[in-house]
Amino acid sequence: NRLVILFQFYAIYGFGVAPVSLGSPNKDGGSSYCAPQHIEHFSKFSPSPLSMKQFLDFGSINACEKTSFAFLRQELPVRLSNIMKEINLLPDKLLTTPSVKMVQGWYVQSLMELLEFLDKNPDDHKVLGEFVDTLVTIRNRHNDVVPTMAQGVIEYKEAFPQDVATNQNIQYFLDRFYMSRISIRMLINQHTLIFDGTTNPVHPNTIGSIDPHCKVGDVVQDAFGSAKMLCDQYYLCAPDVILQEMNLKKTNHPVTIVYVPSHLYHMLFELFKNAMRATIETHESSRNLPPIKVMVSLGDEDLTIKVSDKGGGVPFRRIENLFSYMYSTAPAPQIGDQKRPPLAGFGYGLPISRLYAKYFQGDLQLYSMEGYGTDAVIYLKALSTDSIERLPVYNKTALKNYKMSQEADDWCVPSKEPLDLSSYKVTK
Ligand SMILES: Nc1ncnc2c1ncn2[C@@H]1O[C@H](COP(=O)(O)OP(=O)(O)OP(=O)(O)O)[C@@H](O)[C@H]1O
Ligand SMILES: [Mg+2]
Repeated sequence: NRLVILFQFYAIYGFGVAPVSLGSPNKDGGSSYCAPQHIEHFSKFSPSPLSMKQFLDFGSINACEKTSFAFLRQELPVRLSNIMKEINLLPDKLLTTPSVKMVQGWYVQSLMELLEFLDKNPDDHKVLGEFVDTLVTIRNRHNDVVPTMAQGVIEYKEAFPQDVATNQNIQYFLDRFYMSRISIRMLINQHTLIFDGTTNPVHPNTIGSIDPHCKVGDVVQDAFGSAKMLCDQYYLCAPDVILQEMNLKKTNHPVTIVYVPSHLYHMLFELFKNAMRATIETHESSRNLPPIKVMVSLGDEDLTIKVSDKGGGVPFRRIENLFSYMYSTAPAPQIGDQKRPPLAGFGYGLPISRLYAKYFQGDLQLYSMEGYGTDAVIYLKALSTDSIERLPVYNKTALKNYKMSQEADDWCVPSKEPLDLSSYKVTK
């Protein structure tokens, strides 16, 4: 029952239909007192997921800044408002923490700044320039959203007893919230990188943040190198890496993919830090650290990257918790704390990496053998036509998921008492 707005697609392809401006925001510096109305309005639209191809088209030779501007001034408020509706559904005790309130304030301010552009003229160069500046301001404002939200969760955890239903709610919310954030930053990065009038001096062939020929092996080596440096600093040693590639179509050719190298780097860096920490902590007394093995395989449909360590593994029962924002084995670091161990932080390494993988329809999974080691597997779509943004949408189903309370489990709970069989005795 949501409004599906076709004109967003028209805007992408340059049919020149400008987004309808329904009530522009206050002119006096983006005053936010009418923000709830705008959030209400824009959250009724579904976000429009872009495919890798559409991202590339925005940055190709006939890249049109006007079109991108017209699309973003509607799409960014839609994505912001959709997720702002969900922030409001968080448990009150979390919503009222200073950290979450601060994040909420940033979202309102950014929304209001974007709405200023709804009735501005796309043909005016000055407007386009101001838009880029505004996007940069917004990106900077939201730099610390993840640690600030994490701080909110820590404050909440310390102050209130946890229950399963609330934990599930927070997990559900944060996955969607951080995914929305990844997508918003992707849109902002593409526009600002493509239309700032320069080419990337290090990677001249990238289109914004996308590399159409991203060499997976190179990113593996980069991420490994950085993790190794941290590891060496902290533990004074680090395991080696052994990299192997399989290319189904072009044997002996390096595996490449149309992808955002910084996203891939982020995931691999997190996996390497975890694998190194586990390897060193289980082989403390040994002089020879078993190497971390990486297998990259390109098939027809999937590009799969497996990172294998011999770091002793994790019990199967705990695997799901490793992706939880509420549990972490590492002590909670304080914001601004410089001395924290570099290989373990908020415990967000795995859950955020999985979001990056899922963002373009991939996934990240952990297979562990307790007592031996762990395989972490990243699945990506091999074809750019399959790589389409995966975005949360605020609708009735989402609302229902927040309202769902913890009901009785539909599997038996084993009794802790030994069963007294005497009552079953049949008298002969
Ligand atoms: N390869 C692995 N072998 C053994 N345990 C692992 C492995 N990867 C992750 N873990 C366990 O999962 C936990 C969660 O990992 P995650 O990367 O999400 O957070 P973290 O490493 O504790 O902190 P952060 O990554 O935010 O700095 C780790 O603390 C560790 O106990
Ligand atoms: Mg980690």
